[in-house]
Amino acid sequence: MARTVRKVVFPVAGLGTRVLPATKAMPKEMLPVVDRPLIQHAVDEAREAGITTFIFVVAPRRTIILDHFSVAPVLERVLKARRQAEELRVVRETTLPKSRIRRAVQSKPLGLGHAVWCARNHVGNDPFAVILVDDLIQSTPGCLSGMMEAYREVGGNLIAVEDVPRALVSRYGVLDVESEKGRLAKARGIVEKPKPEEAPSTLTVVGRYILQPQIFKHLARGQRGAGGEIQLTDGIAATLGEVPLHGYRFAGRRFDCGNKIGLIAANVAYGLARDDLREGLRAAIGALE
Ligand code: G1P
Repeated sequence: MARTVRKVVFPVAGLGTRVLPATKAMPKEMLPVVDRPLIQHAVDEAREAGITTFIFVVAPRRTIILDHFSVAPVLERVLKARRQAEELRVVRETTLPKSRIRRAVQSKPLGLGHAVWCARNHVGNDPFAVILVDDLIQSTPGCLSGMMEAYREVGGNLIAVEDVPRALVSRYGVLDVESEKGRLAKARGIVEKPKPEEAPSTLTVVGRYILQPQIFKHLARGQRGAGGEIQLTDGIAATLGEVPLHGYRFAGRRFDCGNKIGLIAANVAYGLARDDLREGLRAAIGALE
């Protein structure tokens, strides 16, 4: 089993219905948290974790997400001419070499498992990471870096997890925990969106995964699960016999930026974490009260 993960899959073909109308014409992954779109936060986290191949699973005809990572010659020329060195630096920082980018199309919104399956030809026979871009995790180093370290130890399938109140478990994938050691929870099962009274624990899945390619043969069956969708969780559950599964209790704070409150809270938290913005933001918030 390979212990180095170099590929990441970003399922970014969703409709973003919880933040309409902001997402009417624009994918939710392009919503900004402070001064960069959510997808850039995710790409930066992946880069820091040593990822070199970035696989975007996009909706048909959607190009804006990939545009964000390509070279912008006109903009760069203007910034250069105006001697806006700092702006030029941040723009250049967003660029990913073309050779590092892969694009897969999810033609129908059949679920997260289906989206990941759409990336199979680019993933090949390697272990790979998945980042759900609207789960923004504030932590230094990033969540995926911490997971890579844990993965080198345990291998198999590894998923970021956190405890939530039992009443909320039906929004998430939930682990059936066999044993715990430090940040790691060895799981004997995983179930998608169970009823609170039926949930095997309150340890829920957050949008960071390191997965083995064996999952694709299960996803290929196209079996529908919770909500009538092809669930990634069900694919992970199906590989349990051949691939061990661990939950990783990450350090840091998670923001669900697919909903309005989470997105606003993330903007405030990320703004307050910035030396260049903290003071001004505090004053602006204070003035509202
Ligand atoms: C997805 C996964 C779920 C996970 C959640 C985390 O659900 O299916 O297991 O807990 O992301 O955000 P969704 O939010 O797409 O319903």
